[in-house]
Amino acid sequence: MTENEIRKGLAGVVVDTTAVSKVNPETNSLLYRGYPVQELAATQPFEAVAHLLWSGELPSPEQLAELRRIEREHRALPDNVRAAIDLLPLEAHPMDEVRTAVSVIGASDTAGGGSVLDASGSPEENLARSIRLYAALPAIVAYGQRRRRALDPVEPRDDLDYSANFLWMTFGEEPDPVVVDAFNRSMILYAEHSFNASTFTARVVTSTLSDLYSAVVAAIGALKGPLHGGANEAVMHIFDEIGSAENVVPWLEAALAEKRKIMGFGHRVYKKGDSRVPTMKAALDTLVEHYDRPDVAALYTALEHEFVSRKGIYPNLDYPSGPAYNLIGFDTLTFTPLFIASRVTGWTAHIMEQAGSNALIRPLSAYNGPDERHVEGYVASA
Ligand code: ACO
Repeated sequence: MTENEIRKGLAGVVVDTTAVSKVNPETNSLLYRGYPVQELAATQPFEAVAHLLWSGELPSPEQLAELRRIEREHRALPDNVRAAIDLLPLEAHPMDEVRTAVSVIGASDTAGGGSVLDASGSPEENLARSIRLYAALPAIVAYGQRRRRALDPVEPRDDLDYSANFLWMTFGEEPDPVVVDAFNRSMILYAEHSFNASTFTARVVTSTLSDLYSAVVAAIGALKGPLHGGANEAVMHIFDEIGSAENVVPWLEAALAEKRKIMGFGHRVYKKGDSRVPTMKAALDTLVEHYDRPDVAALYTALEHEFVSRKGIYPNLDYPSGPAYNLIGFDTLTFTPLFIASRVTGWTAHIMEQAGSNALIRPLSAYNGPDERHVEGYVASA
């Protein structure tokens, strides 16, 4: 095999089909089960998009009501998950906290330790597990942020839908509809993106016939990295470092001279701009207005302008979502866990798809280590 035949990072390699979403960098579009993501973000609650990703269709009013009923049933933080989180040091990264929480939920689902394809992992059961995980994640993320701030947990409210209740459990205040709407849009935009690193990780784990929870835990590990989901957190660190729009040019020149990657820019698939950015930027704009923070918009625009004009590399979804989550009041360390709460819908849709037409994912490698050699003194037995 020649160097030219090796596709490092699997760049450009098509490994399977999927009906969950279509990313088209040529037309700068992203479809979930055929629907443009911008249309979904403008018209749907996150719950309806979760249903779409899992089932292939937007829900009828009755189906949406049923999903909301089940989601409410599983919203509260399970006692054993709370106890497990409490064992962790306060300095633990929230991604590790959420990963641990999902692991506890998996280990507590005593029918769930089996494989995705055997009796403990029928499509119906895996859908039920997916819904329960999606329902429990907001409480886990909210509990983590409140615990780090030494605040008591806030019980969920049955009169609030998913996004409003998520904000309620995090901040303990009735959320403003403008904020709920912006947050709901971000949840929809983060929900699914074909064979990205974390989703592919989930599919690899599923392909061994491991269980749904193990696949989600592995996906969380992949999402944590700053080249993937961790970038929304990293963007905020950059904003904090720069401070204000006037500092953008000297900061950027120094960063580029040090060959630093500027988080929130660039994408493996989109080279002309991320299809999700305009929608998330519009949501950020409404938050900037709501919180009266033109300084945030000024910094955002200045860094985007200076970086794009120098490098021709465009912002990805993490660029507008980082400052948006900051304005809403989330701690920077909580940003990537928010991504989990959303992406768990896409991951589990892919896990079920992979399980439905499985082939073990096992690529080849080209060996470039030492030639064959032998252990001194070894004598082959006759
Ligand atoms: N800052 C500076 N330079 C960059 C950036 C960036 N953000 N992104 C790409 N480049 C440069 C690279 O240094 C490289 O330059 P070179 O050819 O001179 O070495 C060239 O552009 C190609 O970059 P690669 O990293 O090889 O491209 P790849 O397709 O593998 O990377 C990636 C995509 C990992 C997302 C990259 O753009 C990056 O690291 N961005 C910052 C992290 C980030 O924002 N990740 C979020 C992804 S989207 C999401 O998860 C929602």
